[in-house]
Amino acid sequence: MKFFIDTANVDAIRRAHERGMVDGVTTNPTLVAREGRDFRELVEEIASFVKGPISLEVVSEDADGMIREARELNSWIDNAAIKVPMTWEGLKAVRVLSQEGIQTNVTLCFSANQALLAAKAGATFVSPFIGRLDDVGHTGMQLVADVVQIFANYDFDTEVIVASIRHPLHVYEAAMIGADIATIPPAVLDKMVNHPLTDVGIRRFLADWEKVRAASGK
Ligand code: G3P
Repeated sequence: MKFFIDTANVDAIRRAHERGMVDGVTTNPTLVAREGRDFRELVEEIASFVKGPISLEVVSEDADGMIREARELNSWIDNAAIKVPMTWEGLKAVRVLSQEGIQTNVTLCFSANQALLAAKAGATFVSPFIGRLDDVGHTGMQLVADVVQIFANYDFDTEVIVASIRHPLHVYEAAMIGADIATIPPAVLDKMVNHPLTDVGIRRFLADWEKVRAASGK
């Protein structure tokens, strides 16, 4: 499973990267706005050490505007993946961009039919937002299972990025389903390593090792 980090905060990306847990980065207008920085400078700084796909979202709502923005964003760095919204205009842009060899990530996906359309349009990635579905009482992870099954049925190349992740259980469930990628908020990644029994076990081993030291006179 590939781990993308779901943030535009350079320090958080760098911390995860130093842990060897960054196969890519996903941003969106909300995450970029939080940083309060020049967009291009921010993107270029991230790309200075992240070599996997970096998702950058267009904000135009018409295909021509999306394509224009995508070509500009794609010129900034070598590893851009252009995020376009799950609309007919977005799918029209994906078809053009994929033929130009520009990576695309169809975002704000909330149904299996939307994911099927994205795959048929030639999207590199599709991002089902599971947390937002959970938030309104649906089972977001069921969408992931359905999309993974559909893509396997027809051997689509489009990769599934499980997005809008809220906690470590989402990562586990996505991995059990066999999703290609989880885009993980830094705070969720931090939690994944924790287990109280591990902490207790370490403390007990260290305490017992003190007895070994005492017996060795060290
Ligand atoms: O990558 C998409 C993700 O950032 C959306 O997360 O928490 O706004 O639903 P959230």
